[in-house]
Amino acid sequence: MNNQSVKPAEGKLGIMVVGLGAVTSTFITGVLMARKGLTKPVGSMTQYDKIRVGRGAEKKYLPYSEIVPLASLDDIVFGAWDVYPADAYRSAIYCEVLKEKDINPVRDELEKIVPMKAAFDKNFAKRLDGDNVKDCRTRWEMVEQLREDIRRFKHENGCDRIVVAWAASTEIYVPVYEPVHGSLAALEQAMKDNDTEHIAPSMCYAYAALSEGAPFIMGAPNTTVDIPAMWELAEKTRMPIAGKDFKTGQTLVKSGFAPIIGTRCLGLNGWFSTNILGNRDGLVLDEPENFRTKEVSKLSTLESILVPEAQPDLYTDYYHKVRINYYPPRNDDKEGWDNIDIFGWMGYPMQVKINFLCRDSILAAPLLLDLCLLSDLAARAGRYGIQRFLSFYLKSPMYDYRTDEVPVNHLFQQYTMLKNAIREMGGYEADEEVD
Ligand SMILES: NC(=O)c1ccc[n+]([C@@H]2O[C@H](COP(=O)([O-])OP(=O)(O)OC[C@H]3O[C@@H](n4cnc5c(N)ncnc54)[C@H](O)[C@@H]3O)[C@@H](O)[C@H]2O)c1
Repeated sequence: MNNQSVKPAEGKLGIMVVGLGAVTSTFITGVLMARKGLTKPVGSMTQYDKIRVGRGAEKKYLPYSEIVPLASLDDIVFGAWDVYPADAYRSAIYCEVLKEKDINPVRDELEKIVPMKAAFDKNFAKRLDGDNVKDCRTRWEMVEQLREDIRRFKHENGCDRIVVAWAASTEIYVPVYEPVHGSLAALEQAMKDNDTEHIAPSMCYAYAALSEGAPFIMGAPNTTVDIPAMWELAEKTRMPIAGKDFKTGQTLVKSGFAPIIGTRCLGLNGWFSTNILGNRDGLVLDEPENFRTKEVSKLSTLESILVPEAQPDLYTDYYHKVRINYYPPRNDDKEGWDNIDIFGWMGYPMQVKINFLCRDSILAAPLLLDLCLLSDLAARAGRYGIQRFLSFYLKSPMYDYRTDEVPVNHLFQQYTMLKNAIREMGGYEADEEVD
């Protein structure tokens, strides 16, 4: 039972990714390999998860694609921008996430994915020094060149629809600055005036995508689309936006484990999270200004799950610390440690230790796939602006901070939001409330 008001996923879907590094090359290689039947898209909910629709005798569990019209993996065309000129094959080899035997069968296709010149400003990522960069006099010119890239890509590849996703390095922290970020008119003026302090390159990608009728996803913790000006643009262009920061390793664990503490009404004294990471992402995050962006995003998770105001006896003044340490020998194989100091009956202390030996890009790739497919779906369903149902995939979900809206970080509440949105877009009733 597909909802007739959702347009079908006809023709090709162009997925244009900003950044052709570890996450993107792992994502693209996996999709191409899955398409050939040489691997399985493990971890992707759009490919595996089943949602209950209907109740009682009518109830059935269906994969997403039987509830809503999703683009098929066969219909995806990939494009990318990067500061470095390496094609997707060379990037996959360089990043050393996947073994050559898992890359070589799709080598020809990967070699054809050559990154377009990046809209880049070294001040936003000092540790990068690639030269595959656009020559732009102003931020507005960046936008215009990016719009041209999107149009050309769409035309040359015969795409019906485009989604643009940011999986590029984390930029330095750009706090919301109302005079520039507060309205679309102010943002446009600042781009024309070349305000390089308040306009990050990522904002130019987002502006270009939305203006070209493409949803935009922010996979890094950048504040790019977390500003009223972008919400206005998304409304004007009727395009979905989602962000920010893929919820992959430690924060996934955190947003899944914190509800155990909260549901059982145990207390929390402190939560210390630390990581070692040796890939280029880790290198960029080794720069304090870039780490600040990540820190803000990672810290936000607990506050809305273990809320001090709601349970002052249990959650007042807990100490929450997040560290990321650049450690080259581990490359993409991140190791995360969480030390959680909890307390129970009569205040007696206990500790929980979690040691997660993960692979960053292996966790991020299926998220990127799901976010792209679901944003494309949302656009065809006429949904625009912040897509709260995609919070499930994101460390620091966007929300309208001008209203009394709060972000939902609780993993299982987020899952309910995701399922309900799919149900609704499929013409079924949303039937689990999030309190
Ligand atoms: N892998 C994860 O688990 C995870 C989780 C959450 C967020 N992220 C974020 O995803 C992003 C990508 O991670 P990664 O491991 O692939 O990093 P990476 O360093 O391997 O790749 C990022 C690429 O982006 C390019 N780049 C930087 N600025 C650019 C610009 N303005 N335009 C075009 N390209 C640009 C870099 O040259 C680099 O090749 C990072 O911001 C990271 O923080 C990753």
